[in-house]
Formats: sequence, structure tokens, C-alpha cells
Amino acid sequence: MLTVRPDTSLDPELLAAIVREQGTPTYVYDARILDAGVRRWIEAVGDPSHICYAVKANYNLGVLARLASHGIGFEASTVGEMARTLAAGVQAGRIVLGGVPKPAEAVAEGVRRGLDLVVLQAQHEVEAAVRAGDSLEGPPARVGLRVRPGIRAGAHPSLETGRADAKFGFGPAEIPATWAALAGAKGVEPTTLAFHLGSGLDSFEPYEGAIDVLLGLVQELASAGHRVRELDLGGGLGVAYGGTGTDLEPADLVRIVRERLEGTDLAVRYEPGRSIAARAGTLVTRVLYRRERDGHPALVCDGEFTDFGRYSLYGAQHRIEPLEGTLEGSDTVEVLGPTCESGDKLGTDRPLHGVRPGDLLAVRDVGAYGFVMASNYNARPRPAEILVDDEGWKVVRERETLEDLWRGETVD
Ligand code: LLP
Repeated sequence: MLTVRPDTSLDPELLAAIVREQGTPTYVYDARILDAGVRRWIEAVGDPSHICYAVKANYNLGVLARLASHGIGFEASTVGEMARTLAAGVQAGRIVLGGVPKPAEAVAEGVRRGLDLVVLQAQHEVEAAVRAGDSLEGPPARVGLRVRPGIRAGAHPSLETGRADAKFGFGPAEIPATWAALAGAKGVEPTTLAFHLGSGLDSFEPYEGAIDVLLGLVQELASAGHRVRELDLGGGLGVAYGGTGTDLEPADLVRIVRERLEGTDLAVRYEPGRSIAARAGTLVTRVLYRRERDGHPALVCDGEFTDFGRYSLYGAQHRIEPLEGTLEGSDTVEVLGPTCESGDKLGTDRPLHGVRPGDLLAVRDVGAYGFVMASNYNARPRPAEILVDDEGWKVVRERETLEDLWRGETVD
């Protein structure tokens, strides 16, 4: 079953025109697909402020500004992501500092800045929040606690974060005492229980079990006289990258959540990253040459695992299509990068038999966790980033120059 939406592939002619000017490899994002991704969430959830886009998925300032125009919130997991979001013009009151491990200074910065919410996930973070809250002049800072519900998300093992052995969050048994400590502090106000189960989920079942864990805690806290106002369910909705299967739909998640929470007055916050940004991005790369590897044809491209690492890291098979011509035959090829590592691949078993040196390839659905994970290994400048909308296209990040590679270094 092919369920890739027809609106999810940037037009090959436009991509070819862009790289004629900008060179390869280049990331191209379609703002209209970003818009559609956000709208699907807003239609499902209602209030846009309950949707906090996970900035780590794609934090190009042009992308953040476009997403912000929909009135949604943002989840930043580091001071750097928070600074980028502010630099894109988002008000501090629309930003959540998310529940990933962070130094005490980051927590203090979040509390001082008047963010919408700061999610704490370890004892030292709680202590830092209480200390920073003590010296606040204005209203107390809203804080939440990330729970490790002990649920397997069924995602790639590297991307599962809610298991009992995960490094994130408090075990359920630690929550009552930790919440009570926050409730007793003057400069912070605990409002939220949070989880993030993992990324790239292909079923809603894990959410159901994890919500039940949170509901149990809400009741336990209530019996001790504490009110939980909100659940933050993190991100996680998977995208069917290979071109077959279905993306998980926000509306289905929201329906399940509402059923589960019926009869409560809990507000719900979502932190989607991939499900908003992935489909909007394409990486355009040029084939340098063709070679046989162990009797199998392979294409060596100028885009490599330092530009796009999801195959090397997780074995993710993204659609890879030629920009010109059609796919002929059923023979498959490997798509490799040029670095000095055999694991440098963009994909394997791709039906690209007719592709020749000099041809352009489009690696699809790379708008989330693409450029943000690129590195300068082998002293290669990182690609340009382009944003396309109805008006045309613009460079939202220039390709790095060689001089950029040693900025700040000294020789004596
Ligand atoms: N909230 C929190 C606290 C998170 O840690 C994450 C992702 C999200 C929300 C957004 O999750 P999403 O809706 O995008 O699944 N580099 C990996 C993905 C790592 C995601 C980590 N946390 C990849 O390329 O698949």
C-alpha cells in the first residue's frame, strides 16, 4: 500500500533549478508542507498553544519562524535550542524547556526567562529550579516532572526513552516526594507530569499504557492534596519513510488521549517534531560515479552520512529518487557517500538502476533530524538550507565556507 501523500514531494524541476545555483548537497524545505503538518495538529488538538514543536527536529531560523506564524509553542531541550527559538522571534512565554538531561545553569536560565514551562527530570534539576525560583521577583515559574513510565515504545532501541532502564526522568515511585518538594518552594509552581516515550513510534498502544501510569500518579498526588493541571505527552509519532505504510495521525492520538482522560480536567500538551517537519525536507545530492561492490551496483554521491546520518545511525531507509527520468527495472543499488568509512551510506536496496554519474538524487522526508545532525567530519562544509513557498525559494542558511571550518582556531 503506497500511502505517501502526493503533496509530500518537492517538484523535481524546482529542485534541479535550486541546485544549479546552490550546488549539492543541499537541503530544501517546503514551507507549505510544514504548514500542512502544523495544521493537522491544530485541527486535532484545537488550541495551538498546546502544541509545542520539538525544536531539535529542525531548528533553522526560517523554519522556526514559519512554524511560529501558526501560533504554536516550542519545546527546546537545551539553552542553545532556546536561544535559537528566541532568535527566530518567538516569545519566551511560548517556549517549554523540555525534560531531557540538562545542567543546573540551563534550568536556572529557563526559570529566570519566564518560559511557559520547565520540565525537570533529575534531582539536581529540581534543586536548581528551586534555587532559581527563590530569587525570582515576579510570579512563580511553572515546572513539570518527567516520568519514566517503564513502557517499551517499539521504536529503534536508540530512540526508546520511556523504558524502566532509560536515562531520562523520575521513576513513578519518586514522583510524590519530588512534587511535594516543589509545591513547598516559593518560586516555582508544579503544574505538569510529562513523558516522552521515544521517537518513530508506529502504534498508539504505548501512549495508552503510559497515560495510565500518569493518571495513577495524578490520583496519588491528589490524595496528598496536590493538583496536577496538565499532562505533557512528548512527541513520537512515526513517519513511514520507505514510501509504504502509514504515518501516525495526530487526530488518532488525540482521540485516544481524550477517551483515556474523560472525566478529568487535565490539560494536554504535545511535543511533535518529526511528524511536523520530516515530510517537508529533501536532500539533493549528485552522483559522482558508479561502481560494483561485491557484485552489486553502488552509486557514490557527494552527499554523505555527515550530511544525513539516519541510515548509518538507525538503518532508516528513506525514499531516494532520481530527479530526472524514471525508475527502470527492478534491480537495486546501494547509495554511498564518499568518506573513508564503509558505513557511509544514505540507503541500500534502492531501485535506482538507471541512474548515471552526474545525475541528481532526491533523498526524501529528511526535514526532521537531517541537517541538525550534520557534522563537519572530514572537514566538509555543511550543506545550504533552502525554504520554498508559493512566492519562490530563498536561502535560509548559506552553505558553510572552508573558512567557517576553522573559525575560532589558532595556530600559535
Ligand atoms: N519531546 C522530547 C522530550 C523529545 O526528547 C523529543 C525527541 C520530542 C519531543 C520529539 O519527538 P518526535 O515527535 O520528533 O519523535 N535523532 C533521532 C530522533 C531523536 C528524537 C529525540 N527526542 C532520529 O533521527 O530519528
